[in-house]
Amino acid sequence: MTSHFYIAWAGNKRREMGEINRFVNLNGIETVVEPFCGSAAFAFHTWKASPHLRVHLNDKCPHLYAMLSTIKRGDKQTLYDGLQRYANVTKEDYMRYNREVNGGEGDDLTTKWMLMQTYNGLRPGMPPAPGRPFPKLKPLQGAFPFDDMLERATLTNHDFRVVCDQYRNDPTAFLFIDPPYVNSCNDFYSDATCVDDVDAFYTYLLDLLQNATCKVMLVVNNALLMRLLFKDYIRHRYGKKYECTKRQTEHIIITNYDVE
Ligand SMILES: C[S@@+](CC[C@H](N)C(=O)[O-])C[C@H]1O[C@@H](n2cnc3c(N)ncnc32)[C@H](O)[C@@H]1O
Repeated sequence: MTSHFYIAWAGNKRREMGEINRFVNLNGIETVVEPFCGSAAFAFHTWKASPHLRVHLNDKCPHLYAMLSTIKRGDKQTLYDGLQRYANVTKEDYMRYNREVNGGEGDDLTTKWMLMQTYNGLRPGMPPAPGRPFPKLKPLQGAFPFDDMLERATLTNHDFRVVCDQYRNDPTAFLFIDPPYVNSCNDFYSDATCVDDVDAFYTYLLDLLQNATCKVMLVVNNALLMRLLFKDYIRHRYGKKYECTKRQTEHIIITNYDVE
């Protein structure tokens, strides 16, 4: 379980907050925005330390949005009851649900997506290892600090560019940008939320760094393409081991503002 969030979330930034926080500058900031929120580890930890901040969470994934909207309106029990119906899922069921969620067709897709996320958080893109039983689903946690943030937060379901455009000329906004990584395993996102047009995606992000008047922090994998593209804005790099695959990698922190 991704302990700050309701379900397991591969690639969440919770364990990287120590590295990230060293380069965050919230002077003059009133709103924290996560255009690719996922489990919103950054917004959550930042808001917990500074609860006066407004929070805007956005993600293009329709199932994540549906889950968070349901929790936001206080109906967590419905989600939990829905998950219970799938408590005894077999490997064949799991593979079929995966196809349904990625194909966007079938019943009860948000619940099936939650199921996939929970298992994928343990072993990305794969069913449980042969001969190993499916782990039991953990219930969505009860009263939870994340609920408090969510209750107050603005929640949207747009392409990230819509949200970045909304804040790019607002110097009181801090945009934390954690996109799906290029040349990396994104199997744990549904197909609809993978990087479809790399050129347009990263050209937009470079322009944002060059021209926005809000504060922007971007975290990406330390790939040659990223180093070339963002060379003027790289502040730090750090090692990271994926909890689920144990694969070692490096991330880089990029900002459009000076850090001491
Ligand atoms: C690396 S994850 C973010 C993880 C997050 N920082 C956390 O702590 O859990 C990237 C997220 O971007 C979302 N996404 C992918 N393409 C998007 C787009 N074009 N606009 C908005 N969100 C998108 C995915 O659904 C996924 O949740």
